[in-house]
Amino acid sequence: MTDSRLAIVVLAAGQGTRMRSATPKVLHELAGLPLIGHVLHTAQALDAAHLLVVVRHERDRVAAAATELAPTAVIVDQDEIPGTGRAVEQAVAAIPAGFDGDLLVLSGDVPLLDADTLARLLEAHRASAAAGTLLSTTVPDPTGYGRVVRDAEGALQRIVEHQDASEAERAIDEINSGVYVFGVNALRDQLASLTVANAQGEKYLTDVIGALREAGMDVSAVPTPDSWKLEGVNDRAQLSAAAARLNALIVRGWQLAGVTIQDPETTWIDLQVRLEPDVTILPGTQLKGATVVAEGATVGPDSTLTDTEVGRGATVTRTDATLAVIGDGASVGPFAYLRPGAELGPDGKIGTFVEVKNGRIGAGAKVPHLSYIGDAEIGAGANIGAGGITANYDGVDKHRTVIGAAVKTGAHNVFVAPVRIGDGAYTGAGTTIRKDVPAGALAIDVAPQRNLDGWVHTHRPGSAADLAAQQAIGSEHAQD
Ligand code: UD1
Ligand code: CA
Repeated sequence: MTDSRLAIVVLAAGQGTRMRSATPKVLHELAGLPLIGHVLHTAQALDAAHLLVVVRHERDRVAAAATELAPTAVIVDQDEIPGTGRAVEQAVAAIPAGFDGDLLVLSGDVPLLDADTLARLLEAHRASAAAGTLLSTTVPDPTGYGRVVRDAEGALQRIVEHQDASEAERAIDEINSGVYVFGVNALRDQLASLTVANAQGEKYLTDVIGALREAGMDVSAVPTPDSWKLEGVNDRAQLSAAAARLNALIVRGWQLAGVTIQDPETTWIDLQVRLEPDVTILPGTQLKGATVVAEGATVGPDSTLTDTEVGRGATVTRTDATLAVIGDGASVGPFAYLRPGAELGPDGKIGTFVEVKNGRIGAGAKVPHLSYIGDAEIGAGANIGAGGITANYDGVDKHRTVIGAAVKTGAHNVFVAPVRIGDGAYTGAGTTIRKDVPAGALAIDVAPQRNLDGWVHTHRPGSAADLAAQQAIGSEHAQD
């Protein structure tokens, strides 16, 4: 049920300078979802009456991503005045006038925070008389974070930013997570008086804590033991640390759901992926996007599947696949490359050093070795000889090759599209198929082989080949 007393703002206007990237920080990805996507998913779980996202740097890109992930979110543009305090000030101004409930402030760059932790923060805030409550934690290395300064009684006094902190304050290991709940009216009053008189020349939201307390209001910090949930992503080292943390959780979740994952360290699974029980994932495997793997299938080692479907009991070994569909009981690899539109029917086979693009391979059909199948259809039970190539591109347009059911093609065929091979036809080794082959026919385009006896002795006398040949011919005569 919607919490009519709750508004949530997600801060995403900063540039993320420490990422050193052309991509705004909050659009960098973790487990297939941008940082801000993780935060918005968590925010949406709380079902607040108002959800706002503050943007400025690369405004259009961030706003588009936010709207796609959370269609009901209101986009708020931050002006030229920098700082988290200014961002929240402008968000508060965008909340409908009648609202006098609580504002939960989330950072777009704190992706691992879960809805349960936020619900507990909200509960603690509402159970107390505090005007503001922040989530804190202790970390082994607090460098870069705002520090939680408490008075002699242990009550929250203020937050000091790392860059503004004294030596003694920097020794504090309790940090501000950047996640807070405020009574919106108390907050509004304090935001108006923020200044940029600090090391970074920004309006710090953190200054509101000290200001509320000085104004005689209660503020408190709720420490949470799971410090990893509060870790911010400011540079790429923190990004990979958060990715590893999240991946370990995802892998463990699938293991407990009945998936064998041999090496969690080298297995990467995006959030959106779905796996059925008794799937086996071997080391060095990445499952990305909307990939789905059905019961009893084995994927890996060393495979990357993106937006790919793997059927029940199928085997996919050392394969790279994108937007491909692999049927039940089928086998793929080792060393296969499946591009968008590759579809392998049940019990079919795509073997070693085979590339398939926009090609349907029927039930039980096999393309076992060294082939390129593009813009093609291969009927059920057909077998493509080693080195079969569909020549689908004439330099201007792409054309289709259609190979019928139970066809057997010889080794090293080229199919010059558009071309059709009827059901049950055969093609000879080395044939270049340039015209349609009727059902049941054998197609061959190669001239009969001629052997010119003695050619080596005449043209390469005295060579190693000649000596070997003469010896062979001599011993044949000796046996006569
Ligand atoms: C902030 C806190 C710090 C806390 C840390 C936790 C302040 C002043 N400091 O520091 O106490 O320990 O988070 O991770 O708040 N943003 C805007 N507009 C701006 C600037 C930033 O929307 O003008 C957004 C950013 O996009 C980001 C979030 O606010 O999502 C935090 O900004 P960032 O610059 O990363 O703050 P920190 O230095 O990490
Ligand atoms: Ca940050």
